[in-house]
Amino acid sequence: MTQTLADKVKARRTFAIISHPDAGKTTITEQLLLFGGAIRQAGTVKGKKSGRFAKSDWMDIEKQRGISVTSSVMQVDYDGKQINILDTPGHEDFSEDTYRTLMAVDSAVMVIDSGKGIEPQTKKLFKVCSMRGIPIFTFINKLDRDGREPMDLIAELEEVLGIDAYPMNWPMGMGKNLLGLYDIYNNRVELTHPEENEDNDFLPLNEDGEIEGDYQVMQSTIYTQAVEDVQLLKEAGNDFSEEAIAAGKLTPVFFGSALTGFGVQTFLDAFVDFAPSPSEHMTVAEEIVEPTDENFTGFIFKIQANMNPAHRDRIAFVRVCSGEFKPGMDVYVHRTGKKIKLAHTTQFMADSREQVQTAVAGDIIGLYDTGNFQIGDTIYEGKKGLQFEALPQFTPELFMKVTPKNVMKQKSFHKGVQQLVQEGAIQLYKTYHTEDYILGAVGQLQFEVFQYRLLHEYNAEVEMTPMGSKIARWIDSEDLDPNMSSSRNLLCRDRFGNPVFLFENQFAMRWFEDKYPEVKLTALL
Ligand code: G4P
Repeated sequence: MTQTLADKVKARRTFAIISHPDAGKTTITEQLLLFGGAIRQAGTVKGKKSGRFAKSDWMDIEKQRGISVTSSVMQVDYDGKQINILDTPGHEDFSEDTYRTLMAVDSAVMVIDSGKGIEPQTKKLFKVCSMRGIPIFTFINKLDRDGREPMDLIAELEEVLGIDAYPMNWPMGMGKNLLGLYDIYNNRVELTHPEENEDNDFLPLNEDGEIEGDYQVMQSTIYTQAVEDVQLLKEAGNDFSEEAIAAGKLTPVFFGSALTGFGVQTFLDAFVDFAPSPSEHMTVAEEIVEPTDENFTGFIFKIQANMNPAHRDRIAFVRVCSGEFKPGMDVYVHRTGKKIKLAHTTQFMADSREQVQTAVAGDIIGLYDTGNFQIGDTIYEGKKGLQFEALPQFTPELFMKVTPKNVMKQKSFHKGVQQLVQEGAIQLYKTYHTEDYILGAVGQLQFEVFQYRLLHEYNAEVEMTPMGSKIARWIDSEDLDPNMSSSRNLLCRDRFGNPVFLFENQFAMRWFEDKYPEVKLTALL
């Protein structure tokens, strides 16, 4: 049976896993790949823990790992669906790329460590997803360890993130006393240790919400407690609502243990049912591009440079929005109007890169780039030009002063800075009075990549002076009075010339707000 474009699109599930480092993102990714048959053994996804290397070696790490780019997008078939998992690196790899990757997904899985609850990085990533209104699925991990009370975790999730939660299942005990999951959604109990034979790890529930039949587990106070908890949740908790899930207002919560695999399949089955297939994208002309539109379109959300320093190659990651990609096809880049033949493309598997044969909405393809692409570029097939809405800019939190080491190399320094800024690798600010260069980033790694690339691609050595973290807030040009600037609230201009203050801390910002109540301060995302 040949699949129509609509069938193919409907089977796509493109998502990212967001979490704080060490919550278990890698482990659960491996489990998902195992279930999909993409890998045979856990531990193959990546040489874990880049953080164990000295940061300055990161280019070598890339080489050693070799697969870091292949693991930035993973494709796996599961239950008739094609799943695309986009990696959002944590640890020192955290950067604007991480945020931008979230612009290319249709849903997100949020992994939380049951011993720790909501951690800072989870909160940041959640915010970016929630601003897009995409569905967010929560997996509370490490149930095989003693963690915090489930009720506590749910309450924290709702309070800290401001989203309603709906537990799809409920732990029966935890750590050594983990008996299983009370599966509210599937109306069954899933046991960690099946009692009589291998087949009965799922026990159906009767109308009273109790296990049907007579099993030892029913004698346990842990079981009785879980039944009571669930009763309470049903009476006082949120109602299940598919619409609220689809709108990102309600997060279905699953408990489990990625390490032992317990609860992972239950999660995955529900996830592929509820996670959305690719939907439409809006153009700047406010036209809607449907995923099933015939002409191929897509946008570039990430550029990874220097995958192979010997060739200075770069890969532009494209999220396909409509139509069907075919090798060798011609597309236009909207920004430049240039026609490009897509001959050298790659798709990403768990452990290899392969030539793409076909790709539809929701899929990610990699284009070998020789300088044709920028982050945010729209590419399209056919005569009718279009540009998708711009990718948002993110408020940087870390800042560095930067100057060329060798004044003779001013020209290459300026060229390099300009190009890397345009490419979206880093943000650039100039101090209002003296026009000093200040770089802004959301993650430390961006500075290191900047320094490395300036040296290796532009032959410009730079002096970088850390300014630490600052709070960047934009103001309206009309409100601008250069005398407002001081060392604690440094006035700069962004690369578009818009005035922005870099506040030393919250206190400095509040002081400013008190002093100039008429000036409105705005953050980017
Ligand atoms: P990350 O990608 O989110 O950073 O987390 P990762 O999966 O690497 O997991 C972080 C640590 O937590 C790992 O241990 C991993 O084995 C452990 N872990 C993940 N899921 C579970 C779980 O369900 N239960 C328990 N008990 N542990 C879990 P590590 O000792 O730091 O790494 P490793 O050297 O053992 O691999």
